[in-house]
Amino acid sequence: MSEQTTQRFRPFHAPKGVPDYVPPASAEFEAVRDTWVRRARLAGYSPVELPVFEDTGLFARGVGESTDVVSKEMYTFADRGGRSVTLRPEGTAGVIRAVIEHNLDRGQLPVKLSYAGPFFRYERPQAGRYRQLQQVGVEAVGVDDPALDAEVVALAEACFRSIGLTGYRLELTSLGDEGCRPAYRAKLQEFLLRLPLDEETRRRAQLNPLRVLDDKRPEVQEMLAEAPLMLDHLSADCRAHFETVTGLLEDMGIAYTINSRMVRGLDYYTKTCFEFVHDGLGAQSGIGGGGRYDGLMAQLGGQEVSGVGFGLGVDRAVLALAAEGVTAGEASRVDVFGVPLGAAAAARMAVLVNRLRDAGVRADMAYGGRGLKGAMKAADRAGARYALVLGDAELDRAEVQLKDLAEHGQRPVPLDEVVALLAGRVGR
Ligand code: HAM
Repeated sequence: MSEQTTQRFRPFHAPKGVPDYVPPASAEFEAVRDTWVRRARLAGYSPVELPVFEDTGLFARGVGESTDVVSKEMYTFADRGGRSVTLRPEGTAGVIRAVIEHNLDRGQLPVKLSYAGPFFRYERPQAGRYRQLQQVGVEAVGVDDPALDAEVVALAEACFRSIGLTGYRLELTSLGDEGCRPAYRAKLQEFLLRLPLDEETRRRAQLNPLRVLDDKRPEVQEMLAEAPLMLDHLSADCRAHFETVTGLLEDMGIAYTINSRMVRGLDYYTKTCFEFVHDGLGAQSGIGGGGRYDGLMAQLGGQEVSGVGFGLGVDRAVLALAAEGVTAGEASRVDVFGVPLGAAAAARMAVLVNRLRDAGVRADMAYGGRGLKGAMKAADRAGARYALVLGDAELDRAEVQLKDLAEHGQRPVPLDEVVALLAGRVGR
């Protein structure tokens, strides 16, 4: 026989900036995602499952070369066939690509789609800012109706409310469209280039002046106090659209504040833009963001129709729940726990718990030949309401002992009746 190796391997860690969700936090994560999926279904959104990596050009063209997301944060690599692919940094570009590729916009409009999954941005990791982030989102494509903007905002608000959050705020603005933004952009640029800005900021003002409004330095913010704002330069059409959105939100009882200096990190937005912010999270306070994107479909080779959507940051929603001390998820627990005593009982119990699960009863059992004491402890830890104790004596009588762990009672039940009995009490 070969000599047994005594070498101990160093354990691995998850990649830097990538969170794991293990119990109990994983239950919170699941609750946020499931709440979103349920709500999106209620509003007529169908699920899509899309690739985690796409042609790099899709994001360069869709999200915008001048954004930090594209220029600094993408996980881009050549695959073995030499194609440049990128781990998706966000969901909208991929959804629109799929709408075009599968001609979904040739049927009934709007096309309403929802998605959930991981996205990847090479950001500097900190609390609430990860390199693998999780979003749930929706996109409604094909109709430029302000009621759809309000629907998407309301969907997001309902999700935050349903998971039990209260400390969030909705910020809203309009970024205008191709009709009014170019003139505003020129005006802002003219204003910025008159300021004593550093070289880097001047360059940004030339490339994407709206982004300068987001400069966090107090001395720059001071210079920007008199900067012209998009909201004051909207076309009549964009203004009417925005007023309809805000009016609908008021009718729905959804509170908002106008943030005329909001700058989104993605270039495709037009008209309505919004963010949900949570004050319990420190610097990374955005728990979700979205808006309308008029030119994106055409930009990606599709028809000239608009869309509106939203992405909710599941990681940050989970952090927000913790910050408020709220629990949204239900810890995993079972209703019934099997306690077999001996090999023959263990084999019979394995069949019994499987039948209980078929009947909709959450059931588990003690494995590994545990004794009565250890197995009862395990039943307790599993949160079980009932334990089923099966030893050789019970097997001989074709019975099982049903223990009510809440009321501390115990009685024998015929083995062929126990599934129906428990399904009646705790089945779902
Ligand atoms: P976004 O604002 O870039 O929008 O991301 C949406 C949300 O994802 C953010 O509000 C935040 O909660 C979360 N998030 C973003 N980056 C990180 C990160 N590094 N770590 C943790 N959470 C993060 C979009 O992605 C758009 N596709 C949303 C959209 C859909 N717009 C229209 N349709």
